[in-house]
Amino acid sequence: MKNLIDIKELSINEIEDLIKVAKDIMQAPEKYSEKCKHKKLATLFFEPSTRTRLSFESAMMELGGNVLGFSSAQSSSTAKGESVSDTIRTVGCYCDIIAMRHPKEGAPLVATMKSTVPIINAGDGGHNHPTQTLTDLLTISCEKGRLENLTIGLCGDLKFGRTIHSLITAMVRYENIKFVLISPDELKIPEYIKEEVLEKNNIEYIETNDIEEYMDKLDILYMTRVQKERFFNEEDYIRLKDYYILDKNKLEKAKQDLCIMHPLPRVNEISTEVDDDPRACYFKQVRYGKYIRMALILKLLEIE
Ligand code: NCD
Repeated sequence: MKNLIDIKELSINEIEDLIKVAKDIMQAPEKYSEKCKHKKLATLFFEPSTRTRLSFESAMMELGGNVLGFSSAQSSSTAKGESVSDTIRTVGCYCDIIAMRHPKEGAPLVATMKSTVPIINAGDGGHNHPTQTLTDLLTISCEKGRLENLTIGLCGDLKFGRTIHSLITAMVRYENIKFVLISPDELKIPEYIKEEVLEKNNIEYIETNDIEEYMDKLDILYMTRVQKERFFNEEDYIRLKDYYILDKNKLEKAKQDLCIMHPLPRVNEISTEVDDDPRACYFKQVRYGKYIRMALILKLLEIE
């Protein structure tokens, strides 16, 4: 049985296959409409979500399968004190595959030790978010036509943003990738990512707190929200939350074929005036998320 806890578990070839299947689904969805007949996906969300949970559910429905689950810890037996392990052993009796989000780093990995069905990490604390990264890779592949030779600006909360950590981990394996890491000093990328991912792979990167400084060099600008729920005090959050607001002015020097991405939810970090710019890809990114999750479900359930 296979799980997906960290994007590193997938080889470049496996990612390429998933992207290929997702693109095929986009072309001919009807071919896939019964692939998961009689299969059930459980979504266990111990933390809030709109896109990740609903895209998983919609993905399973489009494959002809069924879905069950809960969308907050409060509405499950967690509120009574049940452990993650016991919840997982229980839910495994009702379904064929589980997508799980949890505020504690490592909780989905722990879940795999007791699970009888595949587990997908749908976000664990400030750690990882591999299916958002698959979404991002499909978006980049479709919008830029390549996953190599890219200068990628990552902007916002690089400290707590799990989508950032997973995306960097995935992208360092492709040829000629450079990063511009844009954040306030307090929200810089963690040392372990710098040392174990960027430096270990000899990746060129620059850290700055100025969003405009390297704007003209970027092929991708990946904006993120300041992760309020990971802050220890409200004052720091309030001070940092509007540090970056991407607007038309700030895009003045940007390339004509820049791809602006955001895992969403957006709070304030991209002005709505940017939404109509042809370079804004964040709502397309939402759509890609469903197709890549369809491909992933098929892979983990070993359905051709
Ligand atoms: C992200 C997450 O949950 O980490 N959202 C998502 O899954 N699309 C980003 C965020 O919450 O800021």
